Amino acid sequence: MDHSKITRLVKKVFRNYKLNNNHAKISAKYLIKAELVGAPSHGLARLKMYCKRLEKKLINPKPKIKIKKISQSISHVDANNSIGFVAADIGIKVAIKNAKKTGIGLVAIKNSGHYGLSSFYAEQAVKKNLMVWCFTNAPPAIAPHGSKKSLFGTNPICFGTPTGNKVPFILDTSVSIINRGKIRVAAKLGKKIPFGVALDKFGNPTINAKKALKGVQLPIAGFRGSGLAWMVDIISGVFTGANHAGKVKDPFDDFSGPQNVGHLFLVLKPNLFVGKNYIKRIKENIKIIKRLPKIKGVKKILYPGQGIISRYQRNLKKGIVIPKNILEDLKKLNAVK
Ligand SMILES: NC(=O)c1ccc[n+]([C@@H]2O[C@H](COP(=O)([O-])OP(=O)(O)OC[C@H]3O[C@@H](n4cnc5c(N)ncnc54)[C@H](O)[C@@H]3O)[C@@H](O)[C@H]2O)c1
Repeated sequence: MDHSKITRLVKKVFRNYKLNNNHAKISAKYLIKAELVGAPSHGLARLKMYCKRLEKKLINPKPKIKIKKISQSISHVDANNSIGFVAADIGIKVAIKNAKKTGIGLVAIKNSGHYGLSSFYAEQAVKKNLMVWCFTNAPPAIAPHGSKKSLFGTNPICFGTPTGNKVPFILDTSVSIINRGKIRVAAKLGKKIPFGVALDKFGNPTINAKKALKGVQLPIAGFRGSGLAWMVDIISGVFTGANHAGKVKDPFDDFSGPQNVGHLFLVLKPNLFVGKNYIKRIKENIKIIKRLPKIKGVKKILYPGQGIISRYQRNLKKGIVIPKNILEDLKKLNAVK
């Protein structure tokens, strides 16, 4: 289906669930963008969940979002349980504004929800020639190293910088071996997950997605990944005033209250220390790395973010393929007939 058509349909669904026109537009745009960049686990597969939480008022359709200015550089956003896309969209715009004024923009957000892909917000800063870090916590999925109970989210870490060419460097990675959305989609479609990414509730390795969702996901790089997940929980949860230490609610199956996810955005002017030389320096950096001898089967060394851009452009032309079960969801939400 054509991406602009499906964006309009999704916007209509959000309007039906009482989001105002602007919030519905922002939410639909990000949801469909996830499909376009090839992350369907963060796209249409989540629409039903967002609607269910809106219906139960666990996402506030008419939030009164407060932005408290702490200094010229620092702002604190209380998202009032808005849909995460809207809170994050406002937050990154404030961080960009602060950074343009002072060189550094720091924005902490509390009382938010699942905001999709961190790169969507990072992209906005790099398009303005700024450097950016985005952090968000997420519901329990990973057991802290040494524990058998999951507590940390897949807590993505995202860093972006302009590169002096059309494609920015955007590293946007979960700290779990694979992101939870992929396991949810596999569970929904009855597919297997790769070996070595999750354990079942008894601590045994599993390739069964449903069993993995009830067990624990494994972090990247063992205790190091567990440490990174913990760091993101502190930055996004403890520091911002949001839920932390396993209290972020799972949006799919915990309807006991709002999620209260926290996000942190740090935006910097890249010329702070080396002036106009930054772009020259990063171009040189990338050039050296790309020219390294390659291992067998690798034609090109890519920097993070490069692959996604070409996938996005391809999918813009090709349109979005909607699996049957997601089409059923869309029918139930009156988005398609
Ligand atoms: N909101 C949330 O709660 C939440 C939680 C977890 C993940 N996410 C999002 O899910 C998305 C997917 O996460 P993921 O961990 O599956 O990402 P991924 O494994 O697909 O990619 C991770 C990073 O590696 C880079 N990369 C991939 N292949 C590469 C290659 N061949 N050479 C160089 N770089 C390469 C990508 O550009 C990306 O920056 C992210 O956008 C993340 O923000 C969101």
